[in-house]
Amino acid sequence: MQTSGKRKENKAKEMSRSQTIAFFLRGSVRFFVIGMILSLLVALLDMIGPKIVQYTIDYVLGDEAGPTAIAQYAIMACGGREYIRAHLYIPAGIVILIAVFSALFRYLYRVFSSMGAEKLICRMRDELFAHILRLPVSWHGRNHTGDIIQRCTSDVETVRNFLSEQMMTLFRVGILVGFSLFFMISISPSLTAMSAIFVPVIIGYSVFFHNRIAASFLKADEEEGKLSSIAQENLTGVRVVRAFGREQFERERFETQNRGYTRMWIRLMAWLSAFWCSNDLISGSQIMLVIAMGAVFCVRGRITTGQYIAFVSYNGMLTWPVRELGRVISDMSKAGISIDRIRYIMNSEPEPLRTDTDEAADTAATTDSGAATAFRAPCTDSLGAAPLDIVFDHVSFSYDEGTEVLHDVNLTIPAGTTLGILGATGAGKSTLIHLLDRLYDLPRDNGTITIGGRDIRSIDRRALRKYIGLVLQEPFLLSGTLAENISITKPGEPDMEAVREAARVAALDETVDRFTDGYETYVGERGVTLSGGQKQRTAIAQIVMADTPVMIFDDSLSAVDTQTDARIRHNLLEHTAGSSVILISHRITTLMQADCIAVIDHGRIVEQGSHEELLALGGLYRHIYDIQTSY
Ligand SMILES: Nc1ncnc2c1ncn2[C@@H]1O[C@H](COP(=O)(O)OP(=O)(O)OP(=O)(O)O)[C@@H](O)[C@H]1O
Ligand SMILES: [Mg+2]
Repeated sequence: MQTSGKRKENKAKEMSRSQTIAFFLRGSVRFFVIGMILSLLVALLDMIGPKIVQYTIDYVLGDEAGPTAIAQYAIMACGGREYIRAHLYIPAGIVILIAVFSALFRYLYRVFSSMGAEKLICRMRDELFAHILRLPVSWHGRNHTGDIIQRCTSDVETVRNFLSEQMMTLFRVGILVGFSLFFMISISPSLTAMSAIFVPVIIGYSVFFHNRIAASFLKADEEEGKLSSIAQENLTGVRVVRAFGREQFERERFETQNRGYTRMWIRLMAWLSAFWCSNDLISGSQIMLVIAMGAVFCVRGRITTGQYIAFVSYNGMLTWPVRELGRVISDMSKAGISIDRIRYIMNSEPEPLRTDTDEAADTAATTDSGAATAFRAPCTDSLGAAPLDIVFDHVSFSYDEGTEVLHDVNLTIPAGTTLGILGATGAGKSTLIHLLDRLYDLPRDNGTITIGGRDIRSIDRRALRKYIGLVLQEPFLLSGTLAENISITKPGEPDMEAVREAARVAALDETVDRFTDGYETYVGERGVTLSGGQKQRTAIAQIVMADTPVMIFDDSLSAVDTQTDARIRHNLLEHTAGSSVILISHRITTLMQADCIAVIDHGRIVEQGSHEELLALGGLYRHIYDIQTSY
């Protein structure tokens, strides 16, 4: 439905991986910076411990000659060699003190990085949710809810871990490796070379391995999405599943998917375990080589005993982070996929709430924070409170390229009149309404729909939807009380008087009076605790409450008996006096009082006129009338 020019423009404002990360990191980055400073302090403190042990062994306990200037200064500061020899608790105490500070900084590091992580995930959820709410109905039709939910939960979690843990670990590992190598080189460059030769091997092996299994991780994520989709679909459609006795089939479908998913993870885990084992083997060999060669160096007098012990400690500090690097790289490959899955949502073009002309300006001004800013942009467009003429002019439309659903529709609804639309199922009645409400957008060269002479494509969607009240064919109630649902268009505490009046017009009042909790009755998710007719009447009450200049009832009386239908129509006629009304129905009795009735057949308006005119015409309307009155 998009023109190719528009698509190109969208491509330009797509966020790259790094832009997506930068966008989400806003607001939490300072916590991560503090975390980094703290981890730097921890690494520095950790480096001092082995040095103290080395000096104590070599220059305090032993009689090694030629202590370095730093060692000399440290020994003097603690009272001199003899004094420390008699009071060995001094170096022990310093080591403990350093450990205490290191623990304190480690604690603070955890606190700050967790705060950063929580702020980050909070922003990610907020932005994703706000963006998803703005995505067009057609986008929601193309994407499975279960998969979207998975992207908003487990993928968000993966990205958070990547940014708050893996990136921080990468930084820490960098510092530790740098510091360890520095101290090791200062002790023995040749022993360091023997140890360091393993570093690129371990890292290279990790990268190679994780590149090999990246595709499997992506597949596993997709399989998880499919699994959630099946579960979600079955929960939403629980009644259909029961009614058609599909439990066994659905269970088997779920189990097959679940088995496949489990098998996939078992295979992945087997690969990961193999990786960790082999990695352990390489790291173990490295430690063994350093201990053995260090001992040789020590015996041959190339390094002192203290240096040997310190070197082994530093080497231990090097081994852990290098191995950690393997895990980080493994998770990073997952994070890349998750970021792409989240980017898919963030880069999907939202339904612009402002006019088409304002959109270009918006896009230019808000490339990376477009979602949030455009969403909060004030609505300045207004159609006023009086009904205006609605005109469909040569409107043609297709959902998917190829099959045209509406063909050259011409319709005029003069302000303040009622239009009835009659047509068989699938004729295109709801489509007509969806186009008017801009739930689907009419492409540029497929005709025009105007309100008061203005092309609806140039009207702010929010203003348009405030102007048009629409009772959808399949009403959807949100969880909450009946009163809250009826006053859904009016935020805040429900105005009970208005709610009662709306319920009266929708012929819902007597039913509600019979409920123990009245208007405080809790309506379950999607209104499952109400009957079909009660749900429809609640939806009518919502629109009555909204009191819009244009009201559309898409087959809204199909689930009520003819008596209630008549009562509601009578009430509506009174209530909607002065408003423009569009009534869609299969029942001629519902429509016969309309000022004009349009008969739609296979996407074409085939007849138009008042009830009497259409009867006299003797066409399709007459035929349907005869069938409906012959019972
Ligand atoms: N979201 C969609 N994507 C693709 N095709 C659609 C979509 N919605 C409707 N259609 C198709 O468009 C045609 C017209 O559908 P529409 O819902 O407008 O019919 P209708 O006249 O309202 O029927 P009913 O009386 O059953 O509600 C149908 O053939 C339907 O299959
Ligand atoms: Mg319909």
